[in-house]
Amino acid sequence: MSDAFDPAVYYRLSLSPEDRERLPYYSALVDALADSPVACQLLGEARPEQRNPMLVLAALHYHALTGDRELAPLYADLAKRTPAAFASLVRTALERRPGLVRDELHRSTQTNEPGRSAVLATVLAELNERGITDVHLIDVGTSMGLNLYPDFYRINDDDDGVVLTTEYLDSSGTSSPLARIHQRIGIDLHPLDPASADDVLWLKACLWPEQPERAARLDEVLVQMVHWPPATRLRGSALERIDEALDLCTSDARPVIFHSWVAAYFSPDEQVRWREKIMNHVRSRALWIYLEHPWAVKGLQPPAPSTKPPRVGATQIVVCEVGVDPAHWGWAHPHGRWVSLSPPPRRGV
Ligand SMILES: C[S@@+](CC[C@H](N)C(=O)[O-])C[C@H]1O[C@@H](n2cnc3c(N)ncnc32)[C@H](O)[C@@H]1O
Repeated sequence: MSDAFDPAVYYRLSLSPEDRERLPYYSALVDALADSPVACQLLGEARPEQRNPMLVLAALHYHALTGDRELAPLYADLAKRTPAAFASLVRTALERRPGLVRDELHRSTQTNEPGRSAVLATVLAELNERGITDVHLIDVGTSMGLNLYPDFYRINDDDDGVVLTTEYLDSSGTSSPLARIHQRIGIDLHPLDPASADDVLWLKACLWPEQPERAARLDEVLVQMVHWPPATRLRGSALERIDEALDLCTSDARPVIFHSWVAAYFSPDEQVRWREKIMNHVRSRALWIYLEHPWAVKGLQPPAPSTKPPRVGATQIVVCEVGVDPAHWGWAHPHGRWVSLSPPPRRGV
């Protein structure tokens, strides 16, 4: 994910200060794992692009969800213990049986966060205002494809359907309609299948046990998704499959290439090649939207932010309209809990 690898630092920095406040149990756990030579060694055994503490946390959570006799009771009722006691017991279990985590290191951090659709919807609404009324959505690093449907979620409106709650830190909202989405295409190295029980379990394991509302929302999305329009899913590296995805896009709408928390998993060289490739497509007909952490995607040359991140740990919103350079459009919470949109002025306005 970044150049120098120090597992203890990776563990300690894996939660933003904002999330640390909200997640006392996971905060205590990442600190306990940072102090554990076994947990540090395990993180080092992951493939370089997957040296993300969330992979270790997800592996432990996965075994808890599958009923491991030691871990399941610890995760089932967090409130039974203090965060420090929980963290110490999980650390002990990991150190006694490191194979539990090692067996899952072939997997990837695949958290598929529908909350990011609130950010995408906000950008698509602004693009609609700018005359981009019809798009094909290509979600790169789509995981289970939950962000292929920004037009099917209800934002801050619990009338009906799956609700995403987001706080707008400025006047931007989604009162405007979104650009109309024609085709939906997802690309992933390992697309997760909503019909596979193990894939659903892994996705749940990637969620944080202190946020049961996210697991409940995932269940709700899975129920609803079967009624939503079908999507095309392409398996393989984004760099290799993006041309094919674009070839599938008919000329009645603009292709939008979107990714959130994906390019951070590309190698530095892949990031550079990705930018070159996408900029070639942007020069002709595609738009490019990404939500990534700027320090983790230096090879994309993210634009200099024209606004400061309103809160620590924010994700940058970058939009590249057809024929222009990528521009800073604002900041968002990594899971879309808040959005601060400050796009450049509309052309011709
Ligand atoms: C952290 S998840 C983010 C999922 C989703 N974009 C979201 O925001 O909810 C990263 C996803 O990117 C995928 N991925 C990583 N490198 C990739 C690559 N080179 N090509 C395609 N997918 C990739 C992973 O398999 C994983 O599903």
